[in-house]
Amino acid sequence: MQIEHLPRHVAIIMDGNGRWAKRHALSVAMGHRQGVEALREIIRYSSDIGIKVLSLYAFSTENWQRPAFEVKALMQLIVEFFHAEIDELHENKVKIRILGGKDALPEEARKAVLMAEERTQKNTGLQLNIAINYGARDELLHAVKKLLEKAQKGEISADTLSLSHLEEALYTASQPDVDLVIRTSGEKRLSNFLLYQSAYAELSFLDKLWPDFKVADYRQVLEDFSGRQRRFGGRQA
Ligand code: IPE
Ligand code: IPE
Ligand code: MG
Repeated sequence: MQIEHLPRHVAIIMDGNGRWAKRHALSVAMGHRQGVEALREIIRYSSDIGIKVLSLYAFSTENWQRPAFEVKALMQLIVEFFHAEIDELHENKVKIRILGGKDALPEEARKAVLMAEERTQKNTGLQLNIAINYGARDELLHAVKKLLEKAQKGEISADTLSLSHLEEALYTASQPDVDLVIRTSGEKRLSNFLLYQSAYAELSFLDKLWPDFKVADYRQVLEDFSGRQRRFGGRQA
């Protein structure tokens, strides 16, 4: 059955890999690996049903604080993911953009993400944002720096600065605002993800751990979203 109102932009905080691993007496790295399996399905389904933008939180600016072996395993998974999936993603016209500072990534991961962006840059299907070394606060700082450079060149000033200048300086430049934020694992927080873009997003918190999140769960969340009344601060007629 067709879902009536699809969100244009879905943002997912894929949380719970660690707890999933613990529950299955596996290493945390195996939890993350299982998490990648879940994400594959969600990307494919999003593309099939015509979601315009899908943003996935893969690694936050705060995740560097985790044990070195876990950070290493996550970076390795990122490399593997792009190498294994790029052909199919490209075939399905998926366009990849990395949200976050790429310069701080280990060489191999940086190369993999640059390759993925470059190969898919002309694609016109699902816009897939993968947030790696991403934090909303860091994104704002990065945007302010860009704007200051523009001001120094005389392209903008305090008088002419507008929200659209600010939005164009974010990693999500030229993309629509987030309509729906989904977080798995039972935590009810945003953990520094797309704070500006989610100003009027609908929020959906699920108890399932990320590796257990299936297309049927996703569909249910989308159906729930479809029935919500969004007001954006206005008055209902
Ligand atoms: C989310 O799973 C994935 C990343 C943060 C990379 P976690 O590793 O945070 O899983 P929990 O929260 O420990 O269960
Ligand atoms: C958010 O999950 C980051 C990602 C899913 C990549 P965390 O597990 O890092 O967030 P907190 O620490 O529970 O807030
Ligand atoms: Mg977590």
